[in-house]
Amino acid sequence: MTGPFPPSRTRPSSAAFGPRTGVREPVGLKIRQLPSERAALQRLGKPCFTSPGSRRAAGSGRLGPLRTARPRPLRRCGYTPPHLADGHRHPAARPRPQGRPPMRTATPRHYLMCRPTHFDVVYSINPWMDPGKPVDTELAVAQWEQLRAVYLGLGHRVDLIEPVEGLPDMVFAANGGTVIDGRALVARFRDAERIAEGPAYRDWLHHNGFADPVTASVVNEGEGDYLLVGDLLLAGTGFRSDPRSHAEAQEYFGRPVISLTLVDPNYYHLDTALSVLDDETIAYYPPAFSPGSQAVLRRLFPDALIATDADARAFGLNATSDGLNVVLPEGAVDLAEQLRSRGYLPVGLDLSELLKAGGSIKCCTLELRPAV
Ligand code: ARG
Repeated sequence: MTGPFPPSRTRPSSAAFGPRTGVREPVGLKIRQLPSERAALQRLGKPCFTSPGSRRAAGSGRLGPLRTARPRPLRRCGYTPPHLADGHRHPAARPRPQGRPPMRTATPRHYLMCRPTHFDVVYSINPWMDPGKPVDTELAVAQWEQLRAVYLGLGHRVDLIEPVEGLPDMVFAANGGTVIDGRALVARFRDAERIAEGPAYRDWLHHNGFADPVTASVVNEGEGDYLLVGDLLLAGTGFRSDPRSHAEAQEYFGRPVISLTLVDPNYYHLDTALSVLDDETIAYYPPAFSPGSQAVLRRLFPDALIATDADARAFGLNATSDGLNVVLPEGAVDLAEQLRSRGYLPVGLDLSELLKAGGSIKCCTLELRPAV
């Protein structure tokens, strides 16, 4: 609890406490909360306290963090008093107050993209890829240019990596690595057809301000499977990134990694089934995850937007967000509506040609952090 103390009649100073014994009560000062004040705080869901001793860090002689009691339902007798029924839930887990959506703010981003000059579908490493279907590379370039123009229009910085002939999937820059706090963990691809992309992205990062990019030691398909939400790094596995890469990423970035298991081959990368909207909000498609991973997501993100089957099929979760503007495939109409009702501004784009390789907006975008 870091919030301010609740109002009190008398605010104690640390000098009022005895020496560092941790057992003495405050000298000469009493913190009083009137019963009416306490009731009002309780009604507002704010913490209240009953004993001044509870506000003192043991042994430090200074005020410690404010602790609050958490009522638990009386399970053993099978009866939960109505006034406690909701009391044991984390505040974030309570339903959002209805009414006007919150104000959202955009934060400028720094992206790396790769023009699909050599884009084609000549092999199949996911269910969307059919080498028998014709691909219009020019159209793919035009659609991709639109995405880049949208980013520039939103005020983001977009750097470009030179496309390499013979690497038709290199347009999917998200897979090149994961870059957080100016440190880059470079991808190691699962499939032979993409392996050479790793060193290409490594070289670019090395020559563009990321002094010592480290290549993952086991299969790790970069931001295809690693998505940062606030301080948490969500990590996918099941089809591409090796579950052992999760421990490696946690060690490298020093950020808590949450492992999530993907179960539907159509949603083979985490960024095809989940998108990050801001530091605490995600949207996802539950059926793409194992039951345990669904439970983890529900627990961590009770307020998440839930994509429909149609949104998922339109690749709607393969989106990028700057906290306000959410760029997503235009076919994800239900998701766009949900986004609007939650105060985001959806920007729908047609990347149908790139979808023939099983990729869309987020796949084409590697975020470089911090943005400069
Ligand atoms: N054809 C590519 C593959 O299967 C598509 C990659 C999509 N990228 C992504 N970040 N989901 O690897």
